[in-house]
Amino acid sequence: MADNKVFIFDTTLRDGEQVPGCQLNTIEKIEVAKALEALGVDIIEAGFPISSPGDFNSVVEISKAVSEPTICGLTRAVKKDIEVAAEALKFAKRARIHTGIGTSFYHINYKLKSNPEEIIERAKEAVKYARKFVDDVEFYAEDAGRTENEYLARVIEAVIAAGATVVNIPDTTGYCIPEEYGRKIRFLKENVKNIDKAIISTHCHNDLGMATANTIAGVMNGARQVEVTINGIGERAGNTSLEEVAMILKCRNDIKLNTGINTKKIISTSRLVSTLMRMPVQANKAIVGRNAFAHSSGIHQDGVLKHRENYEIIDPREVGLSESAIKLTARSGRAALKHRFEKLGYKVDGDKLDKIYEQFLAMADKKKDINDDDLVLLLGEDRSKDKIIQMEYLNVLCGKSAIPMATVKLKYNGEEHVATSSGVGPVDAAFSAVRQIVKTKAKLEEYLVQAITRGTDDIGKVHVQVEYKGVNYYGFGANSDVITASVEAYIDAISNCIKANPGKN
Ligand code: KIV
Ligand code: ZN
Repeated sequence: MADNKVFIFDTTLRDGEQVPGCQLNTIEKIEVAKALEALGVDIIEAGFPISSPGDFNSVVEISKAVSEPTICGLTRAVKKDIEVAAEALKFAKRARIHTGIGTSFYHINYKLKSNPEEIIERAKEAVKYARKFVDDVEFYAEDAGRTENEYLARVIEAVIAAGATVVNIPDTTGYCIPEEYGRKIRFLKENVKNIDKAIISTHCHNDLGMATANTIAGVMNGARQVEVTINGIGERAGNTSLEEVAMILKCRNDIKLNTGINTKKIISTSRLVSTLMRMPVQANKAIVGRNAFAHSSGIHQDGVLKHRENYEIIDPREVGLSESAIKLTARSGRAALKHRFEKLGYKVDGDKLDKIYEQFLAMADKKKDINDDDLVLLLGEDRSKDKIIQMEYLNVLCGKSAIPMATVKLKYNGEEHVATSSGVGPVDAAFSAVRQIVKTKAKLEEYLVQAITRGTDDIGKVHVQVEYKGVNYYGFGANSDVITASVEAYIDAISNCIKANPGKN
């Protein structure tokens, strides 16, 4: 393993998701996990399986949906936690259990009501027990930031001897300053005799606004894994932000460390997480804030126009912002569309381009300004050709005092079918009409609508989850008409269920 590679451990779905109001359902977590995989993260901390059945289920489903990164589940140094995490991770191609215990004076005395020697024993036991289930075990010394270095070194040496493959040194309370945190990592590097058998990880909180600085001090002193979240979300003032660390290591090649992050996907991942978690990104947030690449003063604008690097240390294209000012409208041709897809990293031509172009024109008729997110959604819509049920027509009647009615025409089993139904609302009526045709036994479990939120003419995204014989099937639809998007998502989920159970439901 190259010594200049820094592993990216993303904990958006665990530490990030602990933030009040940021909770995601399983469908949303899968969407984030897939985006993290495309972004190139090495490890996804998918949840804390013992904390709730929902968290357990999310770790199971993410383990099935994502194959490249290692999937990690958090535990306390408690046998039952470890058993439950191992069970949740059983579908993961590469699984890691993240177990640990508090090591600071505060945690040992006031939280755990224990003593330093007993903590070392409990830490060793937890690691040994986790190793019975998986080969990859990470140990966290909670509140390591406020733990005395000599004692921390003893804990770390003991857990590595017990089988820990990664040792996490969290600055849980965000108390450290960079020089101090860097020194702590260096101390472990120099004083733990078996340290070469494990990777040292940073995990910094931002209570004093120093999470990223501390993380960078950590890697400059020997850590080779960083625990981060998208947009820096996390407990209280948040965690170190992924995008900041990835771009620091990319821009500052004098540090001579690199990550596997595909930085061109940073903006899209940031927006996805912000939308799903309903957590706006502050305008001046480094890398991903709305103003991060906006030059407002006349002097700066003039300077940037003369030579971009006068005022920009990052080319905005490096993080996935489109360089081009070309606006795509209903008057744009196939060539402009193809060019924009290429800029976004997708190769689209031939029949696929023709088909997407038609959908693009239909969207452009409804929506003045087609943005990059819309285009990516159009690409996703092209999946419709694989669907065994296709919607050909939808008409709904609804409004104050009206009885909601829907008529759908579906192509199913090679034939066209039409059905009309009423319902408590237009979506209910449309779903009921779909069921008249498809006669599925799959039960609707979850229905989620989101707007991309730039205006009332924007695209609505709908996720649907149906359940049949204890198994969940997911569907997705996107359209500027949310009722159409809802029916698309519903028939997508039912199609997936039928494909998995041919002739049965
Ligand atoms: O901040 C922290 O100490 C944590 C641990 C559970 C890793 O999040
Ligand atoms: Zn944390």
